[in-house]
Amino acid sequence: MTDTLTPVLSAFWDADDAFTLDGYRRHGGYQALPIALGMHPDTVIQAVKDSGLRGRGGAGFPTGMKWGFIPQGDGKPHYLVVNADESEPGTCKDVPLMMANPHVLIEGCVISAYAIRAHQVFIYVRGEVLHVIRRLQQAVADAYQAGYLGRDIAGSGYDVDLVVHCGAGAYICGEETALLDSLEGRRGQPRLRPPFPAVAGLYAAPTVVNNVESIASVPSIIANGADWFAGLGTEKSKGYGFFSLSGHVAKPGQYEAPLGITLRELLDLAGGVRAGHELKFWTPGGSSTPILTKEHLDIPLDFEAVGAAGSMLGTRALQIFDDTTCVVRAALRWTEFYAHESCGKCTPCREGTYWMRAILERLERGEGTADELDKLLDICDNILGRAFCALGDGAVSPITSSIQYFRDEYLAHLEQAGCPFGPSAATIFAGSNRA
Ligand SMILES: Cc1cc2nc3c(=O)[nH]c(=O)nc-3n(C[C@H](O)[C@H](O)[C@H](O)COP(=O)(O)O)c2cc1C
Ligand code: SF4
Repeated sequence: MTDTLTPVLSAFWDADDAFTLDGYRRHGGYQALPIALGMHPDTVIQAVKDSGLRGRGGAGFPTGMKWGFIPQGDGKPHYLVVNADESEPGTCKDVPLMMANPHVLIEGCVISAYAIRAHQVFIYVRGEVLHVIRRLQQAVADAYQAGYLGRDIAGSGYDVDLVVHCGAGAYICGEETALLDSLEGRRGQPRLRPPFPAVAGLYAAPTVVNNVESIASVPSIIANGADWFAGLGTEKSKGYGFFSLSGHVAKPGQYEAPLGITLRELLDLAGGVRAGHELKFWTPGGSSTPILTKEHLDIPLDFEAVGAAGSMLGTRALQIFDDTTCVVRAALRWTEFYAHESCGKCTPCREGTYWMRAILERLERGEGTADELDKLLDICDNILGRAFCALGDGAVSPITSSIQYFRDEYLAHLEQAGCPFGPSAATIFAGSNRA
């Protein structure tokens, strides 16, 4: 069994008071802050560049480089916006992180805002997670009281304010430009780019949008050094991160490990696939990343290797499905989600997700024809790369990849005039949100 876990953000999650200011400070919290405030902001940016940290929100864009795009001396206010919308099916790391250790995110916010010369931070939290919002609000109030937020932080002369903003529960508001529109009080729909947020973001001012885990990783980089972080992980995917195992696995949960760990190693740590069953398929990074199979158990989970295998590392949301799962039903369930969450701004996604769901429903009930499989792939082809934002691309991933690996299972539904795995999804999901 491997022993490659590297608990940093989760190092003291099991302490009773991990989420409190005292608990955080007792475990070394808020020690990176005075170090960072004693550095020149550009030196902080350089440290994050040198660490090799890449965004943990899915796309893996280098964080230090993103910060470096913020124009300096432009006379405009700058903003840091933390993306805590976390709504991708399977993705479940930011919510437990904010519940167990909200202060590491706050410390990361202050350091990151200082680096980009911002004096205002927003944390945009998914609306449904009221318990997280309350916990964050309490932590922010405690940080103000202790002088880690507000005026003249740690005697440095630097001022920053932080607002926890509650979204209304729309997956599209995790897309960074839709998030900014929502934060400004508009309907959350993606913006045309360019201009990019670094030039014209919140209130048309230079803005950095980063994922919760990206910002929470910053204090450890400042405290331990860029070389320490860069020494973990693989050549181009540095550092550590959460691998969130869910589904048919003996011990689901958050496994914090260097990038490049394999699913086989993670399953060893998690007690394997549930007893008596074997792995059938899995997502490496949530439902918008193409599924992989047991052939891919030994792929290093980094941006490059997962990409070379035909998928994406995404948010490292490893959803495990065993041999009892109907892949057509799983693809249908995900497609229902995308059809429901499509914001309607562009035709390929608005219309395409509707038709994909309709065809998949028929196929899953065994009522379609083999031609409809090709029609489904044709619709996918008309969405991929043609939709206004990445939600459209994500919506086709479960369909194209499941047909790639399990075409025979789709055909078996038609040959048997029903789902070989039991009652159709229409019966099982009778209460689900169907148009
Ligand atoms: C439909 C959609 C939903 C997204 N949801 C999230 C989310 O919940 N959290 C997040 O950090 N990034 C999300 N993203 C990615 C963001 O647009 C953006 O790339 C990210 O917040 C940048 O942060 P990072 O560089 O730290 O990864 C989403 C993207 C799309 C297209
Ligand atoms: S791809 Fe979908 S979610 Fe994105 S803008 Fe178009 S309709 Fe909206």
